[in-house]
This record gives sequence, structure tokens and C-alpha cells, in this order.
Amino acid sequence: MSSKFRKILVTCAFPYSNGSIHIGHMLEHIQADFWVRYHRMLKNEVWFISSEDAHGTAIMLKSKKLGVSPKKLIDDVKNCHKKDFLHFNISHDNYCSTHSSENLRLLREIFTCLNKKKLIQEKTISQFYDNSENIFLPDRFVKGICPICKSNDQYGDNCELCGATYEPIDLINPISSISGKKPILKKTKHLYLNLPMFNKMLKKWINSGILQDSVIKKTEEWLKIGLKKWGISRDAPYFGFKIPNFINKYFYVWMDAPVGYISAFKNLCKNNNLLNFDDMWRNSSTYELYHFIGKDIIYFHTLFWPVILESSSFRKPNGIFVHGHLTMNGLKLSKSRGILIKASHWIRCFDSDSLRYYYASKLSNNIEDIEMNLEDFVYKINGDIVNKLVNLASRNASFINKYFNGYLSDKLIDEDLYQNFVNSRYQIEKFFENREFSSVVRESMKLLDTANKYINEKKPWKLKINKKNVVKLQMICTMGINFFRVVMIFLKPILPDLSKKSESFLMEKLSWYNIKKPLLSHKIKNFETLYTRITRDQILKLINLCEE
Ligand code: MSP
Ligand code: ZN
Repeated sequence: MSSKFRKILVTCAFPYSNGSIHIGHMLEHIQADFWVRYHRMLKNEVWFISSEDAHGTAIMLKSKKLGVSPKKLIDDVKNCHKKDFLHFNISHDNYCSTHSSENLRLLREIFTCLNKKKLIQEKTISQFYDNSENIFLPDRFVKGICPICKSNDQYGDNCELCGATYEPIDLINPISSISGKKPILKKTKHLYLNLPMFNKMLKKWINSGILQDSVIKKTEEWLKIGLKKWGISRDAPYFGFKIPNFINKYFYVWMDAPVGYISAFKNLCKNNNLLNFDDMWRNSSTYELYHFIGKDIIYFHTLFWPVILESSSFRKPNGIFVHGHLTMNGLKLSKSRGILIKASHWIRCFDSDSLRYYYASKLSNNIEDIEMNLEDFVYKINGDIVNKLVNLASRNASFINKYFNGYLSDKLIDEDLYQNFVNSRYQIEKFFENREFSSVVRESMKLLDTANKYINEKKPWKLKINKKNVVKLQMICTMGINFFRVVMIFLKPILPDLSKKSESFLMEKLSWYNIKKPLLSHKIKNFETLYTRITRDQILKLINLCEE
């Protein structure tokens, strides 16, 4: 008999191993973590993986600048990244690196497949070369005007504004970003993957219900312009995997990076004997596969990746969940653009639930950018988490602790109202499944408004304590605590730290399947502060750190 529980593999795009995790990267891992934790609460089998993207010219140059080996750089950066994710409670089941023996083996296997099918061709091309630094200038090391949308200051591999990808040589007014000089053209041999052959397959696949509408539209535009053969090799010096039988050439980082989705799972199987690799990656009927990515890397995931998978007989994803960028004052947060809040700086000033909650309150399943506003952040956290949520627990717990030795009443005074709360569950489930996290937050706050209004109207603090009133007092406050509990169950995937504290306070594990049954005749702990108000000083501290 097949289990009623789903089996799911979730991935986040791999951060490059040459810089810090910033709160823009975190937007992706946090939202994926909401979704993963939600499914775990439903008892589905979920595996959540990510990895370091360890190869490429940028990493090679950075290690040179620091005077360390690339291997040392990527190992050190990986450790920092892992710490950052841990601090934000990102519950990856495995976090690997693309510079691994598993990844190399899989890449070679895939490359052999592509070759056997004659999908790879050799071509001599003219490429930009930096004469003063003696290096070919691939991808990100030439900047110029986007040949498609004509915006300024774009990289040689893809345009941050229109998302198109192209060859560096297509850039208008190119400049070497290593020396700042105008590059020369030099002949070199490269390998190309025959993407245009897959036009028909791609057209069908992108319309098979797996992409958001705006993502379909973008991808169709690219198909309409026409796919080009995709260059998958790079010249030495390069940090990456060498191409067999092709002297001084390496695989382009975007060739081995997505293969990391497969190899990170392979590594997970090795660490976890129960898992079957082929069940996951060879046929698509047992496991569901979802990739969370930002809108700047759609092209790689909706065009290149399915072609690689198709031509090497791996399964394709069931969904690619694309999100917009985190912006501040309208500008994308990024290292190269000079606007950055490092995750490690954030966590020195605030707790992680606050950022998680703020993101949840702004996230929907579209690809619109998300603007971070620190004033709005403080306002939301104090207004929602402190005033509405935690306050509901504290005001009711104080009576339960003081007069009833921590015991809740043995029945509910208003069953129907409690059932109304419980019934929101179906909507909340839909919101979580569809990644409409801001709707989860909105619905939860609506429930808290109802709960707080209920307590305000009953005014337990006004009751004179006598024999009759004392029963009433316990019943009213029991309603309050149960309202708090229901909303905390809904918010558990979003607020893991507060959930842990609430579980300790309620002396019960918050569980999706226990929601129907209220907590009655149950002892709760003495109330201790669950969450502390955020102050302006904390913002100032963050701003100072960012300016250091
Ligand atoms: N290494 C590639 C991904 C390879 S996946 C096989 C890459 N790395 S990245 O570090 O530039 O970005 C990693 C992820 O973070 C991407 O999904 C990207 O969209 C996301 N973000 C980077 N900056 C971001 C914001 N400012 N806001 C939201 N997401 C951002 O691309
Ligand atoms: Zn463009």
C-alpha cells in the first residue's frame, strides 16, 4: 500500500564560495525552510539540500588575492556559510560543495552521455583576452552594455535586468573587470552543447504546469528569440573540473553547479542508508523535486538544466519556485553593487525569528522584488509578535499561574469560537502549500485580533475573585491560551525559536495533527518572557556594522 505521505526533495540555489551570505541569500533559504518545515509538520518525508558553488574565475582570483589555495578558500567560506544558515535555523539535511568527488563523478557520467548522443561540438571562437593579466575573460569578467535590453554595466554571461544570457563577445563596449582595460580578441577552442535541438521538448515542458506564469512568459520570450548553442568549457587558468581529453580546458561552473543538486542527494544517500538514489533521480513517480531560485538564474534552470537532465536520463523537477530580489531603497542587495547586509552582522543585532517573520509577512509566490525597510521591520515585529502574539499568552498565563497553579480549565467556555480558529487550518494549509506566506501571516494576525478582542471584552482583570467568578476566570484565560496555541501551531514553520520557547511554556509539542483537541486540564509553566521588543538602538548597531 502506498503511504499517504508525500516524498519531497527541496533545493536552494548554491551560494558562491567567495563571499559572505547576505540577507538577500537568506530570503531564499528562509522561504524554502518555511515550506520544508511545514511539510515536515504534516509528516511528509522531506529532504532539504543545498551546497556551496565552489568553482569559477571569481573564486580563483579571490584566492590569488588572499594568497591562499582555492581549496582553503572554499573550505573556510563553507564553514562561515554553514554557521550563518545555522544561526537562521535553516534546516538543511545536507550541505555540500560542488568541489567534491561525487560531483566530479556525476559530471563525467553526464558528459559521457552528452558525448555519446553527439550533443557536444567543438568550435574555435574569438574570445576577449586581458593582455595585461594574461587571461581569457569569460562571463563575469567583462562588463558592458546588454546586447538585448541595452542596459549599462552588465556582466558577460547574463543581464541582471532582463535576465537574458549571451556570450561575452556580444556585449556592447566591453571592459575587462580585472584590469579595467579594453580587452583584445584572441582565438580559442571551446565545447558547445546543442541546446536548440531541445526547443520542442522545452516548449512542452515549461507549459506543463510547473512554472509560475511570469516565469513561463520570460522563458517563452527567450525561446522565441531562439536558443543558441551553449558554451560549456573555459580556458585555464580556472578553478574547476578539468575536461577529459581537452588540454587546458575546464567545465564552465554553470555546468557542474546544478549537477550538485544530484550529487548532494547522492551524498545524503551515503550518509543515510534508507534512501534510494534511483527512486529519487531516475524516475519521477516516487519523489517530488522542487528548486527554490532567484529570478536572476531562471534561464539556467528552465532551459539548460532540463536539457542536461533529459539528455542524461535523469528526471526533471516538478516545480521551480522563483522569487524576486531583496532590495533596499529599490536597489538589489549584492556584493558587487556595494549594498550589503551580511547575515552575520544581522544576527549580532537581532534574533533570527524577527527576519524570518518579516520575510514571511512580505513573501508571496510571485517574482516581485521585496523591499527591506528597517523602520517597517521594527514596527511589524513589535506590533505583531510582541503586542498581538506574545502578549496574548502573557496576559492569560499570569492568571492561570497565579490562581490555578498553572492548570487550564477542564472544558472550553466557547467551543464554537475555538472551532472557528481550528477551521482556519484548511486555508492556512493552502497558503503554505502555495507559498503564500504573507497570507499565512495575515490570517494568523486576524485570528489574534479576534482572540485579543475576546479577552478585552471579557476583561478577566476586572473579575472580583469569588467562588463563581474564579471558574469563569479560569475558563476565559483557558480560551486565551488555546487561541495562542492554535496560532503558534500555524506559525511554527516560520518562527522556530519562539515555537521552542512556547512549547516549553505550554509543556506540549506544537503539532499540526493535535490542533482539533484543545489543551484542557493541562498544566502550563510559569510565564517567562517569550520575546523581547526590538529597539531603535539595535538598528543603529546594524547600520554601524554595515558601515565598518
Ligand atoms: N551559484 C549560483 C547558483 C547555482 S545553483 C546550482 C548563484 N549564486 S549566488 O550566490 O549569486 O546566488 C544564490 C541565490 O541567492 C540565487 O538564487 C540568487 O537569486 C539569490 N540571491 C542573491 N542575491 C539576492 C537578493 N538580493 N535577493 C534575493 N535573492 C538573492 O547564483
Ligand atoms: Zn538586458
